[in-house]
Amino acid sequence: MLIARTIKDLNTARASLGAALGFVPTMGALHEGHLALIEAAKANGARVAASIFVNPTQFGPSEDFTRYPRTEAADLEKLAAAGCHLVWLPDVATMYPPEGATTITLSGPATRWEGAIRPGHFAGVATVVAKLFGQVRPARAYFGEKDFQQVQVITRMVADLCLPVKIVAIPTIREPDGLALSSRNRFLSQQDRALAPILYANLRTAAASIAAGKDVTKTLEDACNNLTASNLSPDYFNLVDATSLEPITNLTAGARILAAAKLGPIRLLDNIAVS
Ligand code: PAF
Repeated sequence: MLIARTIKDLNTARASLGAALGFVPTMGALHEGHLALIEAAKANGARVAASIFVNPTQFGPSEDFTRYPRTEAADLEKLAAAGCHLVWLPDVATMYPPEGATTITLSGPATRWEGAIRPGHFAGVATVVAKLFGQVRPARAYFGEKDFQQVQVITRMVADLCLPVKIVAIPTIREPDGLALSSRNRFLSQQDRALAPILYANLRTAAASIAAGKDVTKTLEDACNNLTASNLSPDYFNLVDATSLEPITNLTAGARILAAAKLGPIRLLDNIAVS
């Protein structure tokens, strides 16, 4: 596995990997969800690159940038074992040189939900992902549906900026009890870890009710009440159009429920397709 920490080394390594490179951008602290993205990229037959960069611009001032888990040695072992061909490990000065003057501005699918609760978050995500695409020059890039809004924001950005990369969304990987894998799950206390699957359980129940024709507004309200009764504080639990991410009150093809809830110091994010 090639490891690049400078643009010069990245360019040399990139030149050896052929045109149809698959790419998995990450912030490290890798788990089975990330490895499923590597697997999907490998299954496409191309060489695979991953990046590890904890991107400061997507964290708000009161968020957990300094606390975000950094586990580089273990991450590199996992990527090597997964058959990754190249890992790009830039530093902050490479990604954000002092003379840098460009940030991507977003609307559409970035507006609501995480976009409203975490101002600037998606501008940070989109800007770093665009830079990573420019550096790594992949043909395909793989993202987990766990962050469904992120996938839609990046898909929109790629279309709007005519970037020559195909975005591939991969289903969420879950613990046996339904909790979506996330690098931040390690910060859940034992008690909160036991409660955390309640979010997905409510997503499943709500999706089944809406698919069966139950009233959407009432179903979503019931889910929020259930979460509150279980000590989770829902930030949102809404049925949305899967592309625009605008809220809808009637079931349409491809509709999705997006949910976020606080549990102790952690915010859980999850979503489910309704069909
Ligand atoms: O999903 C993530 O880990 C990050 O938001 C990403 C896409 C690597 C950009 O920093």
